[in-house]
Amino acid sequence: MLSLFKRKQIADLVPEGEQAGGLKRTLGTGDLVMLSIGAVIGAGIFSTLGTAAAGEVLPTGEVVRHGAGPALVLSFLLLGAVCALAALCYAELASMIPQAGSAYAYSYATLGELVAWIIGWDLILEYAVGNVAVAIAWSGYLSSLLSPWVQFPGWLTHGYFNVHASSDPAIRGLLETAPQLFGMPILVNLPAFLIVMAITGLLVVGVKESTRVNNIMVVVKLAVLALFIGVGAMHVKPENFTPFAPNGFTGIHQAAAIVFFAFIGFDAISTAAEETKNPQRTMPRGILLGLGICTLIYVIVGAVATGLIPYEQLRSSDPLAHAFEVAGLTQFSWVIALGAVVSMAAVLLVFQYGQPRIFYAMARDGLLPSWAAKVHPRFRTPHITTLVTGVLVALGALVADDAATYDLTNIGTLSAFMLVCLGVPVLRILEPNRPRPFKVPFVWPVSLGGAAACLFVMQGLPVKAWERFGIWLAIGLVIYFAYGYRKSVLRRGVAPIALDAQAGK
Ligand code: ALA
Repeated sequence: MLSLFKRKQIADLVPEGEQAGGLKRTLGTGDLVMLSIGAVIGAGIFSTLGTAAAGEVLPTGEVVRHGAGPALVLSFLLLGAVCALAALCYAELASMIPQAGSAYAYSYATLGELVAWIIGWDLILEYAVGNVAVAIAWSGYLSSLLSPWVQFPGWLTHGYFNVHASSDPAIRGLLETAPQLFGMPILVNLPAFLIVMAITGLLVVGVKESTRVNNIMVVVKLAVLALFIGVGAMHVKPENFTPFAPNGFTGIHQAAAIVFFAFIGFDAISTAAEETKNPQRTMPRGILLGLGICTLIYVIVGAVATGLIPYEQLRSSDPLAHAFEVAGLTQFSWVIALGAVVSMAAVLLVFQYGQPRIFYAMARDGLLPSWAAKVHPRFRTPHITTLVTGVLVALGALVADDAATYDLTNIGTLSAFMLVCLGVPVLRILEPNRPRPFKVPFVWPVSLGGAAACLFVMQGLPVKAWERFGIWLAIGLVIYFAYGYRKSVLRRGVAPIALDAQAGK
């Protein structure tokens, strides 16, 4: 029983990335901040902002969640603070344990194998399921961007489950009008599928090339948000700020639970620890700087969006472009849509980069089959797991419903953050003398406060999200006991998977 909580020694963790055949160290602080902005600013601010401000109501009148109204800026500030606590904890662990695998690797060294598996399993929600949501949002913005020239048929831009969950009669009608195959309606989101496959191809070829593409996309997204802020601020109507918090603290809390999606990703860069130059210094700087910049941008965008039009009118799948249209700034709204398309492609890139590296780390520990730990002999990337992840995410994006995936992503990510926060004090007790290049200041209030704050944000999610999360965890435990429990390198006491041997095959 105790072996379930067997911890990996940090000494075992660090050198693996240095082995011949491991990953190539090419990234500096600037690259990490760019990767972080690339991962963070995307569907959250361009899409979930609308639901967070205006709330969500079913056609039956049932309120799924209350909106924050103009007090959305307080939801952003609250989340900035919560994520800063988690980011400090990430930074301490990332600087001590600079290995691919992020929170998964840290928890293996702190809370033991079973918790590490659960975190790795939660991170699939953050990265892979999160990317399903982003790809669907990307496809929606692409359709509206191209609509003056090309009208895609609905059955090629709406996945089956999305149509099924929709309360919009025009979309539900597709169940009847779509072409059929063996009596089943063909309902697929083809653009979402294709963008994921294209990005997967880029990642197989190598990290440096992908980072360059990411840098260009980050510059474009910052320019578009600057345009939104600059033009929007001149058209803000102060009367839109009253009532400031129409649903009181409940609204601020429930809005925070959905718009948390906009913050996901600052931690994603920790999965690149093995490819970072001087990770002890570079990692904490990159994580905290990226988070600070994004929080500032969100607060300003939130203030401008809710000042531009009455908050109820932000309830739309493309709230920023929609706000400009309603405010009569139509000449700019297509630029915003273009910016959204570019931003979300950058998010997809970073998350598709992160997920295979978590699988890689788990496979190297024997918790997943060893083919997932293979490194390409020339590109030095985990090419097989990159391809497998790409195909799975692309298939998810082809048929899934975005609303359900946002909530599931948030609850999985928050639970992983919570466990990372708890890992810091545990490791301080278990290994007090281990060198800590970056130390969390005021460790007890910061780490325990961070864990409590993550739990608090999770409580703002609908009951359905908790049910789905419970099912997800149960499936993960079955897989662990059927496979990882028997094959674990650590528990069997065998040598870790030999990377150099793998790389050459
Ligand atoms: N934070 C990322 C986004 O908003 C996941 O798209």
